[in-house]
Amino acid sequence: MKKVIFATSNEGKMREIREILKDLEIELLSLKEAGLDLEIEENGTTFEENAIIKAKYVMELTGEIVLADDSGLEVDYMDKAPGVYSARFLGEDTSYDIKNQYIIDKLAAAKDEERTARFVCVIAAAFPNDGIVTRRADIEGVIAKEIVGENGFGYDPIFFVNEYNCTTAQLDPEQKNAISHRGKALNAMKEVIKEYL
Ligand code: IMP
Repeated sequence: MKKVIFATSNEGKMREIREILKDLEIELLSLKEAGLDLEIEENGTTFEENAIIKAKYVMELTGEIVLADDSGLEVDYMDKAPGVYSARFLGEDTSYDIKNQYIIDKLAAAKDEERTARFVCVIAAAFPNDGIVTRRADIEGVIAKEIVGENGFGYDPIFFVNEYNCTTAQLDPEQKNAISHRGKALNAMKEVIKEYL
């Protein structure tokens, strides 16, 4: 079975990724499971650049097929911040309760129609001797007025999806994967990987 490394140390993301790719005939490893303890500097200015930096670096290090994602939250009222800086926003070690409350407070004066936001995800796949492919997807929502829900991770408790009338932290994992930025980008990438296997 072909090994595929997913270049992330984020357990929340890894859970979602495993669920989505479970029907591929691959051995899917996180960085840790591949025996790698890396902090890769994400110094790109777009989701594409960062995803490619991570996938290429680990592919060159291991010689395996490597997937990497870069994702984040764009809040329109904050000029699309935190964007590519979502993980580092207000400091890497700051809790999401604090980050989420900060965003809610920032939007205190926003009208309902000004609360639009989206999660964006770009997946890059680096194939040894065979180039790099990216796929991008997003999910539209609005910033909730309070923190709600226990599922998911990160900004999920303030990301309200009108179609479901709840935040992505109130969806169960299968529901979130079916509609999320990461779910859609990974499903598109799954087709690319199938061609390669
Ligand atoms: P990355 O590891 O550089 O892609 O960081 C992405 C960051 O964006 C995460 O640490 C979260 O803060 C945020 N983010 C991305 N996807 C999601 C999601 O599905 N739910 C909640 N927050 C997310």
